[in-house]
Amino acid sequence: MTPIRDTYLPYGRQWIDQDDIQAVVNVLKGDFLTTGPFISIFEQEFASYVGSKFAVSFSNGTAALHAACFAAGIDEGDEVITTPVTFAASANCILYQRGIPVFADIDKKTYNIDPFDIEKKITDKTKAIIPVDFTGQPANLRDILTIAKKHNLVVIEDAAHALGATYQGKRIGSVSDMTMFSFHPVKHITAGEGGIITTNNKDYYEKLLQFRTHGITRDPEKLINNDEVPWYYEMHFLGYNYRMTDIQAALATSQLKKLDHFLHLRKKYVSMYNREFQNINAITLPFEHERGSSSWHLYIIRLELEQLTGTRKDVYNALLAENIGVNVHYIPVYYLPYYQKLGYPRGLCPEAEKLYEQIVTLPLFPAMTEKDVLDVVNAVKKVINRYSKT
Ligand SMILES: Cc1ncc(COP(=O)(O)O)c(C=O)c1O
Repeated sequence: MTPIRDTYLPYGRQWIDQDDIQAVVNVLKGDFLTTGPFISIFEQEFASYVGSKFAVSFSNGTAALHAACFAAGIDEGDEVITTPVTFAASANCILYQRGIPVFADIDKKTYNIDPFDIEKKITDKTKAIIPVDFTGQPANLRDILTIAKKHNLVVIEDAAHALGATYQGKRIGSVSDMTMFSFHPVKHITAGEGGIITTNNKDYYEKLLQFRTHGITRDPEKLINNDEVPWYYEMHFLGYNYRMTDIQAALATSQLKKLDHFLHLRKKYVSMYNREFQNINAITLPFEHERGSSSWHLYIIRLELEQLTGTRKDVYNALLAENIGVNVHYIPVYYLPYYQKLGYPRGLCPEAEKLYEQIVTLPLFPAMTEKDVLDVVNAVKKVINRYSKT
């Protein structure tokens, strides 16, 4: 049988145009490839977009999460609560600081971390919460911030999926104590690799800056010894080289100018999917909570398997055979062999585990065309029809 498409459509990819290329070429022709002026230009423009006081850029989003855990004071044996329905980096950053990831279950409607389960998992060792705005939909930040205040916890929001999303009228990036964004090519804007933390807290801001450059400072107000030589600097703690380059920053700044257009297209394609799939009983569509607007990083369908003769794997493989680049986001973090060796039992978060059995991610990115969206729609309808019990 001929597939719906004769070329493969990935689930996500970057959009790069001539402006982006020129921005990078300008840096390459200039004096600074790194530690130059493009870093703070990007940070200021980004902070202004999300509405935060400060923004500190990093080589990637994972480094940014690590830095946020450091700034929050996570140390050996501290517990940090996060969701298993995320990329490994949301929990790995806790381990980098020798902390202990504690997984709380998800809300079955929004797929985001459930504040009730967070509260159940708090102990006297809990120091922070890392909610993830999964697929671009803000987590239940109102309840999470209330819990954090009550128990004196830091909220590090993993908004790798949520650039441009809003929560109760505020842009994501201006709500939590610290918020992380990623600029990996499948994300809303790209820097090749890149990440950023936004915050309104000056103390966190200064720690983040020093952490990303080896723990070194030249700030005269911070120096411990008063050596007057002009080349003097001090290292105060063990930091890392987690800096973004000027090449990355110039690309990200150029991309930021197009973000609203990218968001518009993502939303448009989501409306097309929703409209086309709304009457298919074997599919549960993504849910958007009224307190926030999603930035639609991912479009995930949930298969109602009791209505199908095939498994999720059958549906996945059949869509791949139609040249639709499906994916699964995510294998629960504690299923990964490294976490299994650390002793996390299966059954820890039943809703997350149930969700994992049923989900398929469909292609969604601004550089796709309406024709691409319709190809996906036709492929999904064809495959669901094939496996439908009715
Ligand atoms: C939810 C989530 N957190 C963290 C990361 C890590 O970001 P990066 O790939 O920029 O290191 C990613 C993305 O890859 C992600 O999707």
